[in-house]
This record gives sequence, C-alpha cells and structure tokens, in this order.
Amino acid sequence: MKTMEDYRDHFPIFKHKVYINSCSYAALSNEVEAAFLRYLKDRHELGADWVNWCERLEKVRTLFAKLLTAKVDEIAVTASASASLSAVSSSLDFSSPRKKIVTTDLAFPTEAHAWHALKKNGAEVVHVKEKDGMIDMAELDRLVDDKTLLVAVPLVCYRNGALADIPKIRDIARKNGAMILVDAYQGVGAVPINATEWGVDFIVGGSLKYLLSTAGVGFLYVREGLISQSNPTQTGWFAQEDIHAMLIHDNIPANSARRFEQGTPAVPNLYAAEAGLKLILEVGVEKIRKYVAVLNEHLKQGVLKIGGKLMSPADPDQHGAMITVASTDQYALVARLAERNIVASCRDGNLRLSAHFYNNIQDIDVVLKALEDNKNLLA
Ligand SMILES: Cc1ncc(COP(=O)(O)O)c(C=O)c1O
Repeated sequence: MKTMEDYRDHFPIFKHKVYINSCSYAALSNEVEAAFLRYLKDRHELGADWVNWCERLEKVRTLFAKLLTAKVDEIAVTASASASLSAVSSSLDFSSPRKKIVTTDLAFPTEAHAWHALKKNGAEVVHVKEKDGMIDMAELDRLVDDKTLLVAVPLVCYRNGALADIPKIRDIARKNGAMILVDAYQGVGAVPINATEWGVDFIVGGSLKYLLSTAGVGFLYVREGLISQSNPTQTGWFAQEDIHAMLIHDNIPANSARRFEQGTPAVPNLYAAEAGLKLILEVGVEKIRKYVAVLNEHLKQGVLKIGGKLMSPADPDQHGAMITVASTDQYALVARLAERNIVASCRDGNLRLSAHFYNNIQDIDVVLKALEDNKNLLA
C-alpha cells in the first residue's frame, strides 16, 4: 500500500519548494499534468469528438457523487462555485412570505453576493456574526425563523479555517422549514462530506483546492427531493432533459441536478478534474483528514511555542485543513516565506497555512523555523 510519502513524489514542486497553500490552490500532480496533455493529444488524434467530451462530463459527475456520498443525479457539474451559487439563487422563489436569506460573516464574498443580488426580487438578507471566530450559533438560532427561505453557511471559513457544525445548523434550518446550503469549497477533499447523512439541500464547491486540479470545474449537489420543484433561470442547452433535442420553443429542464448546468463545459478542465478526483478518492478523505490533523497539531504547538497567535480555533474538531496565524503585515510575511521557497497565502491580516496529504512534518518544521526567524511580523 502506498504511503503519503509515496504520493508526495507525484508532486514535482516538492523538489524545490515547500508548498503549503492548498486553501488557495493545490500543488500540481503528474496525473493532472498528464490529463491536460491527454486533452491536447485527443484533439490531435480524435479531431471532433463530442461523445468523448460528454462522457468526460459524466465521469466527473460520477466521481463528485462518490466523493460527496450522493446520487449521480444529485450532481451538477458547473464552471465554478460562484456559478453553482448563481444557479441556486436563480432558482429561488420569492412569491411566498418566506423572503429571508440567512448568511454569515464567515461567508466567502461570492456566496454573499449571490444573495444580495436577490434583493431586487424581494430577498431580505441577514448576516449571522462570528463569535470567537466561529458562527455564533445562538444568533443563528435567533435569526432563522418561519420567514426564512434559505440558510447558507461555509463548511470551512476561507479567512480563519473555522469548521461549521453542519448537523446542528441543519436542525435549526429544518425546525423552521428553511432550506440549507453549504459552501464546502474550503473543506471538500480535506474534510469528509456525506451529503446523504448531512441531509442538506445544496452543497457547492470546486476542483482547484484540495481536489487537486484546476479552476473551471465546480459542482453543485442538489437534494433529490428538491430537484423537480427547482426551476433555475440561469440555464442553457446542457440543462435540458435532452441536450441534443435542439429545441427552441420551450425550456424542458433535465429531471436531475443537471438542470442547474448551462453550456458546453470547460472540457480541458474536466480531464484535469477527473484525474484530481481519482487521486483524492484513491488516497481517501478520511485518511487525509487524520493525516493532516497530525501535521496541524505539530504546527499549532510550534506557533504557540514561538509566541505566535493562532486565529483558527484550537480544537482540531473545529477547524479544517487550514491553520491561520495573526500577522502585523500579512503580505510581508508571505513574501519572507517565499524567499525561503515556502508557498503560503494570506487573508484578513492572517497567514494561511494549509497542509494536504502531500505535506510532511519536515515541511512544518521548515515553516516554523521561518516564522521564528520572522517573529517581528507575527502579531
Ligand atoms: C469558501 C469559498 N467559496 C467560494 C470560493 C470561490 O470559488 P469560485 O472562484 O470557484 O467561484 C472560494 C474561493 O477561494 C472559497 O474559498
């Protein structure tokens, strides 16, 4: 059986850099590189092959379903998490007294934009504040009521790595008859997701980060029971029941989550997404979560030892793969790390360090040494 060190060899960047930036985007594997080249080769060898392109789309859909423990018909393959959110927002119906959308101050901007854009349709958008870096659950409970149409939360916050308690949030939404959407982009591939057990209505995400591939391929999970009553107005020919019908006098959406799709998918990216998903499924998300937890405990202890301040929750059950460290100058700190060939990123005043299965304890020690030597940039 392959070890995580064996898998590390699939990522050439580790020959010259400490890559610890999966929250932004993943390191490039040999498999994903080969998939991009395969796309070009297929163009040379096959010429035009729509059947192959459509098959790729279905393969990616099947892999997303497997990853999320969902049915294949519950998955739409989209162009980005934002496209998934827009498709959902275009399907929301404001004709009933339920007009409230409850989002959070931990949302990635694109999620909040999707709801604020609906104000022209009568949506009332309210934000749950954060408490100690987490979603304030008491405030969420207070704000969600029988006028709430949708509750939207990030699984993992892109700014500080806080991990949401989805079953608890789902229960609050459900007892008020509201739908629930989870933006899982900062979790998918690093935190196990079981859509069926979660029992939420929508899950969005994409392939660029912990799923190891590229921009241009996102996903949208739609709970089976919701599909037939959802009518997205953001649509297109790939959303039709019969893509090849070429019908122009009606809109007949697919009887599956495919009704949330639009036009020709980003085919080169489908090749890459397939390769990335296969690799993640081969390694296993449960295993990845456990492995990264060990690296992150070492990282958190080390940061505290040198007098740094963690902005992520300390409890390993309350954060995703990303650990954040307060900085007096986030950009200078990222630049100092870059001088030592460490690839990291920052947001909201904090350094973001996001390990994946391709990192090891030596990487963490290199990062800790760099932080110790740049203590003046730690807040
Ligand atoms: C939590 C979260 N949601 C959504 C997005 C945006 O994704 P996309 O650019 O695919 O729309 C990001 C990107 O960083 C993110 O971290």
